[in-house]
Amino acid sequence: MPGSDRPAEGIVRELPRLRQDFDAALAEVRDPEGLQDVRTRFLGRKSGELTLLFGRLGKLKDEQRREAGRELNTVKQEVESRLEARRAELETRLRDERLLRDRVDVTLPGRMPPRGRRHPLTVVREQLEDIFVSMGYEIYDSFPEIDDDFHCFEALNMPPDHPARDMQDTFYLEGSAALLRTHTSTGQIRYMLSNPHPPRVRIICPGKVYRRDDDITHSPMFQQVEGLVVGPGITLADLKGTIEAFLHALFGPQYPVRFRSSFFPYTEPSVEADLGCVVCGGKGCRVCKGTGWLEILGSGMVHPAVFEAVNKRLGRVVYDPEEVTGFAFGLGIERVAMMRHGVDDIRLFYGNDLRFLEQFDN
Ligand code: DAH
Repeated sequence: MPGSDRPAEGIVRELPRLRQDFDAALAEVRDPEGLQDVRTRFLGRKSGELTLLFGRLGKLKDEQRREAGRELNTVKQEVESRLEARRAELETRLRDERLLRDRVDVTLPGRMPPRGRRHPLTVVREQLEDIFVSMGYEIYDSFPEIDDDFHCFEALNMPPDHPARDMQDTFYLEGSAALLRTHTSTGQIRYMLSNPHPPRVRIICPGKVYRRDDDITHSPMFQQVEGLVVGPGITLADLKGTIEAFLHALFGPQYPVRFRSSFFPYTEPSVEADLGCVVCGGKGCRVCKGTGWLEILGSGMVHPAVFEAVNKRLGRVVYDPEEVTGFAFGLGIERVAMMRHGVDDIRLFYGNDLRFLEQFDN
């Protein structure tokens, strides 16, 4: 074979085919793995096609070896620089593809976390508290929800056979004398017992109360605000002026307030306050049952028997019915909120349904 006397030519003659194969292989490359395969095929340390040609140089004479070596080196450099160029190209393309895939639209509006708000009953209670605080009242709410017969009934002049004590109405705790308070009037007794001097009181007592009742206008747990004012010379006129000022502050001065005589064991005389119907403006509607008025709270002049029960517990006369008088009142927060917002089912307040709760301004 002609290569035997000019072996350098044999090696060099391989080069065009090798170049062609390399071009074709490189054109097929789509990813870095493919590129690595091509590199191994031509430059692999043991059996790369170009490496093998280099291996054959050792059999050549000096002159021929230099000549063929130059050619091989030229091709090797070319192969290397084209592999490198292709690598850079691939990298750029892959990066562009990744950028496109992971594109973030920074102009998209963010997802707002749902905004919480105060419960409508909390709002009403706080409005009520603000009104009384502005009139110089103290908020007393540190009295227990679990109480007893004395504070809930007896000290409030309710005889043992009073219907409010009935198992039908009151939650008694099993196997004990304790009960869930049925009204915040316990706050009157608790406050006077723990603040025995001087016998002057001006408080409101907000809190939860419990009754065996459950229908569209009654919930087994609901909230009340009790009020108590005690001092020398407090009269029914003070009661009426206070309640009227309070209702006008809460609902607006356009609604008339009227007082009807009533009965509660712990007040004498007792009166209930009505407000001109906030739904029909007094003309008469379904909500006020055609009367033009809405019952809003119970109140009265503190019964001397209440002061006496407190004195007896204290073991001395602190609230002397000859020296001091007082008035008390109590109202339901849910009822106020229902009137205010035209809600006709009390259970909605305790259903935790966001569609309902979201309708109220914080
Ligand atoms: N305790 C009464 C109730 O639960 C409300 C009430 C009426 C409270 C008259 C009073 C009052 O202080 O004087 O319905």
